[in-house]
Order: sequence, then C-alpha cells, then structure tokens
Amino acid sequence: MRLPVRNVVRETVDAVSVEFDASFAYLPGQYLTVRTPVGSRCYSLATSPLSGEKPKIVVKRVRGGAVSNWICDHVRPGDQLECAGPAGTFTPASLDDNLLLLAGGSGITPIMGIILALRGDAALIYANRDADAIIFRNELDGLLPVTHWLDNERGLPTADGLAALISGYRDREAFVCGPEPFVAVAEKALQTAGFPDSRIRVERFELDAVSTIDATAEVSIDGRTHVIAWPAGKRLLDVIIDAGLNPPYSCRQGQCGACAVRMTSGEVDLLNNEILEEEDFAEGYILACQAIPRTNSISITYF
Ligand code: FES
Repeated sequence: MRLPVRNVVRETVDAVSVEFDASFAYLPGQYLTVRTPVGSRCYSLATSPLSGEKPKIVVKRVRGGAVSNWICDHVRPGDQLECAGPAGTFTPASLDDNLLLLAGGSGITPIMGIILALRGDAALIYANRDADAIIFRNELDGLLPVTHWLDNERGLPTADGLAALISGYRDREAFVCGPEPFVAVAEKALQTAGFPDSRIRVERFELDAVSTIDATAEVSIDGRTHVIAWPAGKRLLDVIIDAGLNPPYSCRQGQCGACAVRMTSGEVDLLNNEILEEEDFAEGYILACQAIPRTNSISITYF
C-alpha cells in the first residue's frame, strides 16, 4: 500500500517521526515494512489503533543505515511511502494486563504504541545515551512511571543494574525492545530478577533490517581467497565462521571493532555500529559481525 505522509516531526537530533494520512487496522506494537529506493526496513508504529490518531513511525538516523538515513534525508509531507503490513506479534494478550516495559533508544517506538493503548498499569525503564536522545520525553511525562537510564551518567546498562530496578515488578509480563546489546542485557536482568521466560516478550530492533539478498562474499584471509555463499538473513561474520575460516571478532554486537575488515568491492548495511567513524568508512572498513549485503557480491580482505 502507498501511504501519504501527513507530517514529519524532528523528535531528537537524530530521529524523526513520520505520520501517515491514512487509516488501517493494526495492533499495538506492530510494525510496517517501508520500501525505499535504497532498500526495505521495518518500523514499529508508535501510535495506538484505539486512539483515533493518525498512525506514525519513528526513524532514527544510524551510521551505515541506508534506509533510515534515506527516510530522514528525503521524506517530506505530501510524499507517498510504499509500505507493507502491518505485521508482528509484539503486542499484549490483553490491554488490561499490568506490564513492565524496557526500551533502549528507538526501541521506545512499539512500546509507546502499547503504552497509549494499555488500560492496565505499566512501568517503563528507558535507556538512552543521554537526555538529548530521549524520544517522546514530553509525551511520556504523566503517562506512566518512567525510570531513565542515561549512559552518559551511569555507563551502558548492565544486567545487575537493570535487575535492581525491575525486581518489584516480578509478577508482570515484561516487554523489551531495543538494539541487540540492550535486549541481551535486559533479558539477562529479567532472568536474574526471577522472570520466567514465558513472561518475557522481546522485539529486536536491528533484526528487523535483515537483508533479503542472497549474496556471494569473496574473503581474503590468511594468505588465501575463498568464495562463500552468503544466504539472505545472515551476517557476514557468521557465514565466514560457518565456512570454517578463522576471522577475528570479540563482542559480536558492533561495539568493539575487533571484527573490522576492509571491503574492496560491493556494499553492505551495518545493523549496529558504535565504533567505526566516517574516516573508517572512507577507507572501506566495515564490521563483519553487523554486515548484511546490499549488493549481490562483495569482496573483503583481512590482509
Ligand atoms: S565483534 Fe565487536 S564490533 Fe564486531
């Protein structure tokens, strides 16, 4: 479906909301797949289908994130966006439930849709790098109790730190959404605090950006060059390891840079990047642990 854009609002220095002049049925926490000239990506709806407000998504600019950056740079009111969906199962079984919500960065988007629709009680733990990065800061005030975790004050979230904040909500169902590193820590915190897996619901934001391209990777490593099939949905580091090669890596979360490798041809998107700078990209470096293909063939070298 082609959805007309009604409004584009700057929410933070690197995030915009895109409101559609359209009405369609969806559940709180579901997402749309947006198709652009540079690829497709899923974006959660930040609105409640019950409120009568126009549906909107939030798009956060990310380094190496072709689709999100294209939307931030190009989409204006009056444009039309090709969208598929809505889809997704990150939605409460009952809107009368009492919930514990944990969001990291733009992971607030589906959580916001749930908050706006919920009739039960909710409490939110919301992690961001600093106060300027908080999306929906004003809207959240007064809606529910919010505990902000700011990385610039407390460091990156830790399982023990989050567990101390959530132990009073052990009887609730927990909904977690954010980048993979945040989700991993939040899941561990919930398990530490005694939440059974059956009451932990997770939406991994970056995994929505999984590539649909079947590609080929030419990998030069340890003095030899290997041609490896790179199936859709897999990250580059995983296919290299699956091929029996021995590439360097450590965190596998886009944070440490140990998997950095120079790309000599082709294009990739990075699902998360917290380490490479513009000058690294200019020299061709990518993070193998976060790379999904944008072209049918790429070449990389570890020399
Ligand atoms: S292994 Fe740490 S950034 Fe890839």
